[in-house]
Order: sequence, then structure tokens, then C-alpha cells
Amino acid sequence: MSILITNVRLYGEGDPVDVLLADGEIREIGAGLSVDGAEIADGTGQFLLPGFIDLHTHLREPGREDTETIETGSAAAALGGYTAVFAMANTSPVADNAVITDHVWKRGQEVGLVDVYPVGAVTVGLEGKQLAEMGTMAAGLGAVRMFSDDGMCVYDPLIMRRALEYANSLGVLIAQHAEEPRLTKGAVAHEGPTAARLGLAGWPRAAEESIVARDALLARDAGARVHICHASTAGTVELLKWAKAQGISVTAEVTPHHLLLDDSRLETYDAVNRVNPPLREASDVTALRQALAEGVIDCVATDHAPHADQDKCCEFAAARPGMLGLETALSIIVATMVDTGLLDWRGVAQVMSENPARIVGLDDQGRPLAVGEPANVVLIDPAAEWTVEANDLASIARNTPYQAMTLPAKVTATFLRGRATARDGKIVAG
Ligand code: NCD
Ligand code: ZN
Repeated sequence: MSILITNVRLYGEGDPVDVLLADGEIREIGAGLSVDGAEIADGTGQFLLPGFIDLHTHLREPGREDTETIETGSAAAALGGYTAVFAMANTSPVADNAVITDHVWKRGQEVGLVDVYPVGAVTVGLEGKQLAEMGTMAAGLGAVRMFSDDGMCVYDPLIMRRALEYANSLGVLIAQHAEEPRLTKGAVAHEGPTAARLGLAGWPRAAEESIVARDALLARDAGARVHICHASTAGTVELLKWAKAQGISVTAEVTPHHLLLDDSRLETYDAVNRVNPPLREASDVTALRQALAEGVIDCVATDHAPHADQDKCCEFAAARPGMLGLETALSIIVATMVDTGLLDWRGVAQVMSENPARIVGLDDQGRPLAVGEPANVVLIDPAAEWTVEANDLASIARNTPYQAMTLPAKVTATFLRGRATARDGKIVAG
């Protein structure tokens, strides 16, 4: 099967060209291509980018299939322009063994909309006490290449040190949810004037920053790599800058919501805005945008976190933290980074595709748009505007913070190994 994308601008640069996808790869790029039997995708006015890779996705299978499954989450990912996602380990049961990580990989391949890479837990049951069998998971069918207790912090420095050493010898990555739990007991919002006025228990910046600093030092001593999940404060940005300047192998992600929203959103007490780490202050948002533009923060990750209505439509302090993100990520990045002049579209390809691929060492994703490369690509209408309607999203859960917002730019088609997985806002069955 072959598809000819016509009249499209690669990375939004230069003159429009035609791009032929055949046998899973980019076969030809040129002007005025005509290929017998190829299906045509009109790319007029549109941009072509490498397919996006999300290093931080919560699919709720196994355990909370009432909020998301590998199938529905894959659909949300494909519609959002993703060709690979990393499914976090905080499922029920926890993905701390190869039976579960293998299942996640196999189920993702069966669904076939996006490559679903399982993330293995660092510690058994995410309890932070005993290392999980990382080696077995890494050697399994799911070939786990990233480990994280995300949702929980690997707070014991000795366990974290051993995890980094072990990961180093296996050639895998540890991703840390940086939260010193002794500083966040009962916390539901960013510690600051807003939370104080609203009577919400505060989560101080230091809870994140102290772990970021500590883990950078542990990674330095272990000669290991560490990845910081959902960086949320200006102080974390300063620490990342410092660590990178020392030559420490630290990478970091930022979520679309931390690039757009701040704690002024909490005024309504709507629990859709409850998330870990919490929405911070406008000054943090500015620092995070700048850091992503400058490469201090390496990539965007959604932290897509579906939750049931009964866990969100309740009082703020009782709600579960987390928000949907896969289908809105590109638009939020365009609103916060492109429309503000901080990134061009090549920069978008870097932070949403190339850098995530490099961080986890994927060699068939996040590749340049060039002949002979795997046809994992996304077609984008940069001039589109659309209004978010939670009921229309592919996710089962509806906890989007962007309900009724009008956003710029839209994914018009996603191709995984040359096959359309999403087209014009609809999933294309395999
Ligand atoms: C995540 C979840 O719901 O699993 N929630 C969140 O607020 N981000 C866990 C996490 O990413 O820490
Ligand atoms: Zn987390």
C-alpha cells in the first residue's frame, strides 16, 4: 500500500513537495510526483513532521479500564499525532514484572494504532522499598527501556542510587517523579498566595527541587542517566541548567498544561485543575517556556492522566490528580511556544519527537523526514482552529482542563509505518 502526500511543507519550511510513503518507509520526496495506485492525501497548506513520541502516558490497563484502555488511549494518541507512547507503570496491578509489561506491549501491537512501550516500575508495587526485577522486564517481549515509579517518587536515596547503578548496567533509563513526600503530605495545590487564600494545602517548590538536585548528584556519582518527569518550577530549571553545565546526564520533560496554565485556575475549585505536580505561578510558566525553547528542558510529555467523573467531579481535596493531554498536546504547544515566537516548527519536531526518541534510544521513531526513513509521520493543519469538547475526545475519561477552549492547529493525519492511523479527526481501523 502506498500513500502520496501532495503539496506539503516539511517542518513548515521551504517550498511544498510531494512525499511518497510505501512499504512502511518514506520512499520518495520531490515535486510533481505521480504514482499509479497510490492513495492521495492532499497536504496543501499543511506541514509534515515526524510522528510524536510521548514519554509519559497513563493508560489505565490493567485495572481502571473504566477510564482508559490501551485501545482508547492508543486512539487518543493517534488523533494527537503520536506514533509512540510510553505507558506508565502505575496500573493496578503495578507493572513491576514482565507479565504485565509484556501484556502492555502485545496489546498495543494488537491494537496497532501507536507503538505502546511499557514503562516498568523501579520498585515493587511502587512502594519505594525493594527494586523490581528490571532485568527481566528489560529482557522481556516488552523490552522495557524506561523505568519509573511515576505517581510516586523513589524517595529513598539509597534505593534511587541502586536503581541508577542497575539501570546503567542494563542500558535503560530511570524517570523520576520528583516529589519529596515528607514535604507534600496532604498537599493538593501549589504552595503560594492562591492556595493560602483558597484554604488548600500547599505543595512547596522545594519538594520537587530537592529531589531534582539530589538525583542529579546521584546520577553524577553513578555515571548514570536520569530523566526528570513533569518539571514544574523555575527552580527546577535552574538546577537542570547547573547539572547540565557539570556534564551530568540529566534530561527533563515539561507537560503542555504546565506551559499554559497557572494556579489562578484554582479560583473556581474545579478539580479538573488538580494535578501533580500542581499548576504553579505565572513566573514558573514563563521560566518553563524559556527552558524548553533553550533546550534546558529537552522535551514535551503529556502526563495524560485519565480519571473517572466520580474521582474528578468532587471537592478539590478529594479529587484524584491528573488531566487528559494526548489529543490537545500539539495545540497547546503551538499556543504557548510557536505563536509566542519561542519555537519554530522544526523546534516542535525536536521537542515532541526527535528528543524523546533520543532520550529513550528509539531508532525507528523521531527520525528525519528523508528518503529511506520509517514512515512514522504526522500531517498538521497549522491554520486550523478547533474547540475542545470533552465528549468528542477518544479517551473514556473526560477530565480535560481545556473544555470549550478554542485552540490553534490540528493534526489532520497520522501515519505509523506508512499506514494511516488517524485521518481528519477519525481513527482509521487496521
Ligand atoms: C498521574 C496519574 O494520575 O497517574 N497524576 C498526575 O497528577 N500527574 C500520576 C503522575 O504523573 O504523577
Ligand atoms: Zn508523576
